[in-house]
Amino acid sequence: MNKKLGLLREKRQKAFEGGGTLRIESQHKKGKLTARERIHFLMDEGSFQEIGMLVTHRSTDFGMEKEKYPGDGVITGYGTVNGRLVYAFSQDFTVFGGSLSETHAEKICKIMDLAIRNGAPMIGLNDSGGARIQEGVVSLGGYADIFYRNTMASGVIPQISAIMGPCAGGAVYSPAITDFILMVENTSYMFVTGPNVVKTVTHEVVTSEELGGATTHATKSGVTHFACANEIAAIQNIKDLLSYMPQNCEDRAPALPYDTQNELRPELNTLLPENASTPYDIREIIDHVIDTGSFLEVHKDFAENIVVGFARLAGRSIGIVANQPAFLAGVLDIHSSIKAARFVRFCDSFNIPLLVFEDVPGFLPGTDQEWNAIITNGAKLLYAFCEATVPRITVITRKAYGGAYDVMNSKHIGADMNFAWPSAEIAVMGAKGAAEIIFKREINTAEDKEAKWKEMEQLYSDIFANPYRAAERGFIDEVIEPAETRTKLIQAFKMLENKVVNNPRKKHGNMPL
Ligand code: COA
Repeated sequence: MNKKLGLLREKRQKAFEGGGTLRIESQHKKGKLTARERIHFLMDEGSFQEIGMLVTHRSTDFGMEKEKYPGDGVITGYGTVNGRLVYAFSQDFTVFGGSLSETHAEKICKIMDLAIRNGAPMIGLNDSGGARIQEGVVSLGGYADIFYRNTMASGVIPQISAIMGPCAGGAVYSPAITDFILMVENTSYMFVTGPNVVKTVTHEVVTSEELGGATTHATKSGVTHFACANEIAAIQNIKDLLSYMPQNCEDRAPALPYDTQNELRPELNTLLPENASTPYDIREIIDHVIDTGSFLEVHKDFAENIVVGFARLAGRSIGIVANQPAFLAGVLDIHSSIKAARFVRFCDSFNIPLLVFEDVPGFLPGTDQEWNAIITNGAKLLYAFCEATVPRITVITRKAYGGAYDVMNSKHIGADMNFAWPSAEIAVMGAKGAAEIIFKREINTAEDKEAKWKEMEQLYSDIFANPYRAAERGFIDEVIEPAETRTKLIQAFKMLENKVVNNPRKKHGNMPL
């Protein structure tokens, strides 16, 4: 037995060594952790159970049969994060550059199948040179097997991808299908084709970082939801994200214990600027309404005219979507609609109630927006809210104009409770523009056109620049003092806790994509 135990220990030791000391040193020199170190920091101490540690590749071309590493460049298994089961894979760049072979893909698929069957989140730590070049098409088949599972798992279990090194070519499409992507600044990049191909095809000269680094994808493309300063920060971010989510679509997110206290927040009565055109930061309002310090903003630096993220209200997990008057006056445009739509769909998939703060002057005008299909893209957000069956509450703080009023979780599209502050202005458009159109004749024939315009603007404003017309119709359930917002929301979400809505039976909807 001793001899047999010795053999097992030797094999395990070899697996622990990955691609060897030199390659591990090179990984560290780049400011990167190894695949095993990442798993160590992610999982609760001693909880990780590895599966497939002794798997090796089957390739025999180019002398590959002589070069085998147990584990074949990816560590797969399960463990717990803050006591809750998760499945994970972590690609080992020290073994063939973490490249994806047939067996490497099989290991990932095995773990994904387990995650789907057992209903627990799937976390991918990506650091890979892409398809294993020596294996050709079997490696491409491996990618497709993973993409298929990512799609089947979508909406069933939360899927999170951290990019901690290269992620190029076909490899990008697995993270792209998952729910959240995190990237590490300066050491990770994602692109379909790298700088060399770009130079050949389009003659653009661009670095990897500019083309597909964390900052690029966090600000320009929105491909990544989080840009993290380093790998430890990224791993902490994954843990924070998980804390707001349930294990699967049949489950509810864990709630923190909470004793109801005095929930009035008098400071909210003075936060809005006196002038309705003055910008303010909606995050300040959010911070005063939610449990202290509980906001985890998603897509913070992308499409900043809308703010989305997770928070807790009386200990319960909620998803927040809020127009941001401090950026482009909070208009809806293509990027903000896509950003919010995806977030709404995630929350709805995983039973996380939605809270909307509305202060929206409308959709952004212009050829750029029209030619790039604001119609189709704006419809995504509308569609996402319409189909969402989780508890949904809206608070209108100021402007709710035009079609954007309908889109932003209005009563008409299925919101459960709609509150408005006395400062709310619920109308087809701002009073100035409205007066110019409907009182054109009066203004043009007046002796003092400017004065007449002002008078008509005031008239329109007196009728519509308030929440009371909407409240009379029942489109607003209650006009509330800002100070009461937290109290009202806690009570309303509690009232909606057991909400059941069944949309008409269908194979799946045909969302405008
Ligand atoms: N298949 C097989 N082996 C690969 C690989 C791949 N796709 N990508 C990298 N490797 C190997 C390298 O041969 C090298 O092996 P070694 O340690 O035995 O020398 C090791 O991984 C590290 O690669 P290296 O090029 O030295 O690292 P780097 O940090 O300088 O560059 C990349 C990383 C990813 C930019 C570079 O390796 C690369 O361009 N890889 C190919 C990417 C690609 O075209 N993939 C296929 C299409 S999806």
